[in-house]
Amino acid sequence: MPHGTDLPARYAVFGHPISHSLSPAIHRLFGEQCGITLEYTAIDVAPEAFADTVRRFLARAHGANVTLPHKAAAFALAQERSAAASRAGSANVLTRLADGRLLAHNTDGAGLVRDLTGRQQCALQGSRVLLLGAGGAARGVAWELLDAGVEELTIVNRTPDTAAALAGALGVTRARARYWQDLDELGSFDLIVHATSAGVLGQALALPPSLATSQTVGYDLSYGSGAQSFLAWARAAGARAACDGLGMLVEQAADAFALWHGRRPETDPVYAHLRATLA
Ligand code: ATR
Repeated sequence: MPHGTDLPARYAVFGHPISHSLSPAIHRLFGEQCGITLEYTAIDVAPEAFADTVRRFLARAHGANVTLPHKAAAFALAQERSAAASRAGSANVLTRLADGRLLAHNTDGAGLVRDLTGRQQCALQGSRVLLLGAGGAARGVAWELLDAGVEELTIVNRTPDTAAALAGALGVTRARARYWQDLDELGSFDLIVHATSAGVLGQALALPPSLATSQTVGYDLSYGSGAQSFLAWARAAGARAACDGLGMLVEQAADAFALWHGRRPETDPVYAHLRATLA
């Protein structure tokens, strides 16, 4: 409870658009599970109004989640930044500290790794991973993939300079950039992470089937209609599994919940509920 009152603690997710966000349902279910009363809403805000709107909200609330297209702006807004947010240059969680300053954190990468290694039974230690895309979504997960023991992280992006910049920022020989037009010469991968916005934009990607074998896991960071074209490609290419980002969404939310409430909820029941609802 905030400030010693009996009002429910206030949280929100900020995005543009945001109407289909599952975050309010996820945090409501987490709260019920943990016996914590909270108010969590979805707030649509255009980029030019983001900073003022979030500052005003957080003057009277405990924390916020931030999604597209505001993650870099959320990072810029904060006075304190976690290591995960700093290396990604973006934040999906803002927390108001006791002295009123804002702390930016990024739980996306940890959420992906937890979903992959747990729910999807995808071993990352020693694995060969292809990361498609080098924008905000890719930056949000690249360091955590390396931290989880990925042996070779190959980054391929439509604009090659951006892939090279991300590989350079990662700063280890295990991470390297390759050209999109050379995809059919790269062999196959244990895991292919789709982190471009092509699916969400309704644009088709040309990917050779040689990237996948019957051992490969294909993982799209988004869920819903935006993930469908990559997942269809992964299935057609014979991948062992084609996973959308619903599990990552629930896991990153659980990490945000833990930051705010000091307790990490069980994610499996919430994941199962959402999966059934989406189906
Ligand atoms: P996000 O936060 O969703 O990652 P972003 O930072 O704008 O958004 O990054 C979008 C990513 O999707 C970039 O890697 C982009 O490639 P470019 O750097 O070449 O722009 C990639 N992307 C978007 N549309 C694409 C398409 N039709 N084909 C391939 N890659 C695409």
